[in-house]
Amino acid sequence: MKKIYLFANWKMYLDYDESNILANAIALAVKDFSPNTEMAIFPSSIAFYPVCQVLSDVGIGCGPQNVYWTEKGGYTGEVSAEIYKMAGAKYSLVGHSERRYVFGETEEEINKKMQSCLDWNLTPVLCVGETREQRNSGETDAIIKEQITSALKDLDLKDLVIAYEPVWAISKGVGKDQVGQHCDDSEAEKMHKFIIKEVTALFPAVKPILLFGGSVRPDTVKYYLKMPHIDGVLVGAASTKLDSWLKIIQAV
Ligand code: PGA
Repeated sequence: MKKIYLFANWKMYLDYDESNILANAIALAVKDFSPNTEMAIFPSSIAFYPVCQVLSDVGIGCGPQNVYWTEKGGYTGEVSAEIYKMAGAKYSLVGHSERRYVFGETEEEINKKMQSCLDWNLTPVLCVGETREQRNSGETDAIIKEQITSALKDLDLKDLVIAYEPVWAISKGVGKDQVGQHCDDSEAEKMHKFIIKEVTALFPAVKPILLFGGSVRPDTVKYYLKMPHIDGVLVGAASTKLDSWLKIIQAV
């Protein structure tokens, strides 16, 4: 039976109180979740420490949504991988499409963030994905290959999680009418096979865990997880409400 990875990206959807309430409710509700499931939550930076404390007690990992690559120092507004590690982080998202396209994060910066996660023993969850325009112009494979090659440049990799998140499939908000365009499970599977091929060509000894992300919902999660190259999901909007997150867990 394959191990399933359920990762929740809370983005900037929840404030401090809402994050703590949801974390406590999840900790209570999932006490008996399948030992074959690895769960991780990526809360906002303000709620990171208390959420991480509550969740690690029940075996749920935590990670930041972004890290800065240097250690402590004069970097106003940033939080480093080192500081998150000391606060209990196990993972970190790196290169999420909202970081790339909203905040202009470059491939070079993403590579530095990957390196600093490895330096501080955080498992990086590298997010890759093409925009609608790139897909329409037939550039999908080239874009994904470029994102992987530059992010992994010169790294001494051991553990790696890659989330394939087509930008056009990501929800635009938490509302029911804000789902992204549907990415078919067979299309997601095809891209995951491509990603494995690219990573193996660069790092023959590394077997990355592959997640799919983009408007995953309780009624669609099982179709993605049935695919042989999809190990789990990275869920945004649908992970920020207790009932839909529990339905996703139960659907596994
Ligand atoms: P979504 O977000 O599930 O709200 O589409 C996924 C993500 O961006 O990580």
